[in-house]
Amino acid sequence: MRIAVLLLGLAALLGCGQDEPALGSLWKEKFALAQGGEYLLPTSPKAILFFLIRPDCPISNAYHPEIKRLAKEYEARGIASVVVYAEAGLEPWKAECHSFEFDAGCPAILDPKLVLARGLGATVTPEAAVVSQAGELLYRGRIDDQYLEVGRRRPEAVRHDLRDALEAALTGRPAPCPRTQSVGCPIQYPVPAGKSEGPTFAKDVAPILFARCAPCHRPGEVGPFPLLSYEDAKKRAIQISRVAEDRLMPPWKAAPGYGEFLHERRLSDNEIATLKRWAVEGAPLGNARAIPSPPGPKAGWTLGPPDLVLEIPETYRVPAEGEDVNMHFLLPLDLSKERYLRGLEVRPGNPRVVHHAVGFLDQSGTARRLSARRGGYARFGGPGFVPAGITPRYVPGQVPESFEPGTAITLGKGWDYVLEIHYHPSGKEEMDRTAVGFYFTDEKPKRAPTGVLMGSEDIDIPAGEKSYLVRDIYRLPADLEVRDIWAHMHMLGREVVVEAELPDGKNIPMLKIADWDYNWQETYRYRNPFSLPRGTVIRAQFRYDNSDGNPKNPNHPPKRVTLGEKTTDEMAGIWIGGFAAQEGGERIFSTANLSHYRELQRRRR
Ligand code: HEC
Repeated sequence: MRIAVLLLGLAALLGCGQDEPALGSLWKEKFALAQGGEYLLPTSPKAILFFLIRPDCPISNAYHPEIKRLAKEYEARGIASVVVYAEAGLEPWKAECHSFEFDAGCPAILDPKLVLARGLGATVTPEAAVVSQAGELLYRGRIDDQYLEVGRRRPEAVRHDLRDALEAALTGRPAPCPRTQSVGCPIQYPVPAGKSEGPTFAKDVAPILFARCAPCHRPGEVGPFPLLSYEDAKKRAIQISRVAEDRLMPPWKAAPGYGEFLHERRLSDNEIATLKRWAVEGAPLGNARAIPSPPGPKAGWTLGPPDLVLEIPETYRVPAEGEDVNMHFLLPLDLSKERYLRGLEVRPGNPRVVHHAVGFLDQSGTARRLSARRGGYARFGGPGFVPAGITPRYVPGQVPESFEPGTAITLGKGWDYVLEIHYHPSGKEEMDRTAVGFYFTDEKPKRAPTGVLMGSEDIDIPAGEKSYLVRDIYRLPADLEVRDIWAHMHMLGREVVVEAELPDGKNIPMLKIADWDYNWQETYRYRNPFSLPRGTVIRAQFRYDNSDGNPKNPNHPPKRVTLGEKTTDEMAGIWIGGFAAQEGGERIFSTANLSHYRELQRRRR
């Protein structure tokens, strides 16, 4: 008795749960194959392995290579695999296209009425289920524990629950953990719409989605599916309300109370409540004629036709899985004379994999050497030279803007442009050909963008340390007109706070990110530009978590981590961008940045 209780306790600790769905007569059911034709579930082998997926679920797509591997490996050992499209009302052509692109090497079937999903008791995609020959559900849950929650992925899985269950099934033992919770996109079972007076799509939800989500969730943009119609929204109403409630979507990391920013993407509490109530009440349409018109697809260049368009030298192949790739591409500007750059726009070739990009100006010729004959080079943490300038970053959803009138970056004759692109594998091999549009002006600039560089080189985080702090202080050598701010850490970073203390003692909170995510390094532009007088003291504090409790920790068990450019090393950086108030003040800031940087290097242990 006591042992049973102990075991149950242990199971709960491991995230196991127990419940029994009725498998009933699924084996008499005829299913449609995604590639055409009918299909009956197989009976002969030792067990059947189901993978429940959805075509537009990024996490289920990311698992595709692993699904394919497992299907092949266990097929040879007597366990047949079946991929199940668990989406209510999924149009067959969508499943057909998807199963062509993401072929797992085993039958893929449609479950448009969610009979199979319901029978197996599945709740999310991706989810796996192992059923014995006798029709007993031996395992249901995650494939492994790589995802802790949506948006939180470990570099590598630690527990492989599905494999453990399959190995157990092959030897006739019970799975060590027969039920686990998978992370991904909720399977949406139809809810009968009530007669409530609650929010409707037409009146309440469409305006939120079109304004807050569609900028990224529309064709040609980075979001994994469009959110432009009632159908788009209805079939993932619960998922939408969950990501909104958890503030995972829209992605926006700056905490309220520390700076007010342009194009802020935070949802209000009211908006979140509306989305939630709408989903819970069965996603009612309302008056279809009252639906506002959705934004059109993204077309062309936001800043107008560029004066010069450069593409990365050749189509870049992004592997199906593995770590993110940081590529640097050489884009020779081939300028025969000095030019004034008044704006720039990066147009990702394949937004599914281009996660963000930043451009560097090289006058040293180093980029040419690094990329000799290859057109590019992979490197993490910087371009490998001291840039003569940095151009505005590309981050999904960020609106490109020209510099203010009278402002330009002066490009020297013979300078090169290096575009660093951060690629995110999507689950299948992808191709990218990103382009950059340059906008010039003949007007000699009155001022150039400048700013303040802060950070620390003194980083030595002991293994297991939960809250490791790094600080920096900078005293302004001249008046600075502040426009934007950008922060940088790697995987162990958890929080960054920047505050300014004016000479009169007044405190200005400038930025706080309480839930740092390397993937969303945005340049935050202040809604109301402000000026910081000479003598202002800026303080930055960075916090890191090097314990096992940090899901993004790349080391299991945790290891000592020091300063470095690899993902597994750490960094601490802040850039406060703007203009010198006095003419020619850029030089004062360049000199001050350089001596501050030398000071940081001296303090490095
Ligand atoms: C700035 C661009 C951007 C905006 C704005 C945005 N999204 Fe997303 N969304 C993304 C990207 C990129 C992904 C893919 C995430 C990934 O691959 O990890 C995504 C993924 C999702 C997912 C799938 C989550 C998952 O990984 O399973 C949902 C659901 C979603 N978004 C809903 C919304 C909703 C609802 C809104 C508006 C309230 C919204 N998004 C606004 C960029 C955006």
